[in-house]
Amino acid sequence: MALAEMLAVVPAGSDEEALLRRIDFARLPRHVAIIMDGNGRWAASRHLPRVEGHRAGIEAVRSAVESSARLGIPVLTLYAFSVENWKRPDTEVSALMGLLKHYLRLELKSLLRNNIRFKAIGRLERLSEDIRIELREAEARTAANTGMLFNIALSYGGRAEIVDAARQLIREGIAAEDVDESAFAARLYTADQPDPDLLIRTSGELRVSNFLLWQIAYAEIWVTDALWPDFRTRHLLEAIVDYQRRERRYGAITAATAGVGKA
Ligand code: IPE
Ligand code: IPE
Ligand code: MG
Repeated sequence: MALAEMLAVVPAGSDEEALLRRIDFARLPRHVAIIMDGNGRWAASRHLPRVEGHRAGIEAVRSAVESSARLGIPVLTLYAFSVENWKRPDTEVSALMGLLKHYLRLELKSLLRNNIRFKAIGRLERLSEDIRIELREAEARTAANTGMLFNIALSYGGRAEIVDAARQLIREGIAAEDVDESAFAARLYTADQPDPDLLIRTSGELRVSNFLLWQIAYAEIWVTDALWPDFRTRHLLEAIVDYQRRERRYGAITAATAGVGKA
């Protein structure tokens, strides 16, 4: 059971334990999506090169993936590299790609141990062949896993994804009158996955930066000032507790918002 599994790994009497006990495990978000931001600022505040911030961010990735899987969250998507991030200096891009490769090699065992299914989403054809080989290997080796689905968004752009879905519909010769929201969603990289219920962004920035634009239509947004390398299980639990306090209305009127006797 998720609560027992989590209690076994958090220190007794800790903030994490108190947060865990407030979570309703019957109402977990079905999909948590995270914009991992602030690595550069984390490094700058320590007078380190930006790449050291990215390196430190790996520990936060590990923590987010393992905690989400233990909690029983069905889908986790991490935004690791956007289509716009190709505009960064070559040295930073290659450092990021090197770290990605290192992460994949090191973490594959842990993904397998935790029954996690891995999937890369984005314009992957822009990645170098060696990275694509690692990604395919991780996807293939974890394909039969039945636990959490872990999407990593790489060379990813929400607008690019929507354009790709439109191209796919045209290629398949789908008639205009058959193009509806479900036909569209079925051609996105996240076809067959639930939309994110909870969108987390670190480092205090209040924007979505081209992430899962279609899918976050009704996501609840939670922003923390914590920089990504400092993100730990406690932040994830705080986000879930906050998410569970919210009333989701999807444009309708609910008991709490309908004033008595008002039109
Ligand atoms: C997030 O950290 C990692 C990526 C976007 C690849 P940043 O590198 O954006 O860090 P800041 O925003 O400059 O602090
Ligand atoms: C968003 O962060 C992209 C990723 C986390 C991969 P950025 O740092 O690239 O976004 P902006 O530039 O602040 O919008
Ligand atoms: Mg940033």
